[in-house]
Amino acid sequence: MTSRSVIIDTDPGLDDAVAILFALNSGHFDVIGLTTVAGNLGIDVTTRNAGRLLALLGRPDIPVISGAADPLARPSIDEAAIHGNDGLGGVALPEPLAIPHGYAPFWMADQLRTARARSVDVLALGPLTNIALLLRDHADAARRIGRLIVMGGVVTDKGNVGPRSEFNFAADPEAADAVLRADLDVTLIPLDVTRKVRAGLDYVQSLRGTIAGTAAADLISAYFQDGRESRPLHDPCVMLLALAPELFEVETRHVSVDLRDDPGALLEGPLPVKIAMGIDVAAALKLLANGLA
Ligand code: RIB
Ligand code: CA
Repeated sequence: MTSRSVIIDTDPGLDDAVAILFALNSGHFDVIGLTTVAGNLGIDVTTRNAGRLLALLGRPDIPVISGAADPLARPSIDEAAIHGNDGLGGVALPEPLAIPHGYAPFWMADQLRTARARSVDVLALGPLTNIALLLRDHADAARRIGRLIVMGGVVTDKGNVGPRSEFNFAADPEAADAVLRADLDVTLIPLDVTRKVRAGLDYVQSLRGTIAGTAAADLISAYFQDGRESRPLHDPCVMLLALAPELFEVETRHVSVDLRDDPGALLEGPLPVKIAMGIDVAAALKLLANGLA
């Protein structure tokens, strides 16, 4: 499997953390940087956590670049209730090895202008604020993105913020709207799919062994709540689709983003968007476990 250059835009967050550990440990991704965004928690927490994950795996060669502290046009919402105030469910990770530098939209633009056009994919695990800012202020660079794979939205399932809205889209609906309107190669992975990719207690235990696998097991264990039997692994689905798109059934739907009644909800609309609506769950979980081993 050749490794592709990727930028991971993220709001770690427990499931973001598992996705990042998988990407780094699997050897299938050339991660050129982690850009952080406010989402599950504030920008300082998500940025620190990105640095802590790199410190855990001894990767001072990978930069962390912090980004938007607030949504484009609304007050922030967060998911501290799920991820804990430290964003990692209290799992002890080392402190970051380096001070983050730069500002994510600028840094992304610089990387995209320097790299061969469409040779860098962007894996978006949080609210789309940084990518919307890249589109607004550096449209020439944004056009050079290869694939933009986004965990976000919900199509027929119920929402996890409003009745029909998913957190990454609800946290910054204007950003989601801007990204779906842009002429980019976007693939959405909505809750309809990510909720099917569930880690049970036995699966979590099976991950233990390597530094990445044991940390992932600790992080998912911290994600279990009030006696539930399993937890959904939302963000790792982005890496899995980047690596093995054949495991997903992707269809083009015509949508728009609700900016009023249930902000972030996906409505019928004029925008043609590739949306994953099916997944081979067993194969996906196996690939995830293999990449953490
Ligand atoms: O709705 C799930 C998404 O919101 C995931 O990316 C999770 O990390 C949170 O950001
Ligand atoms: Ca996330």
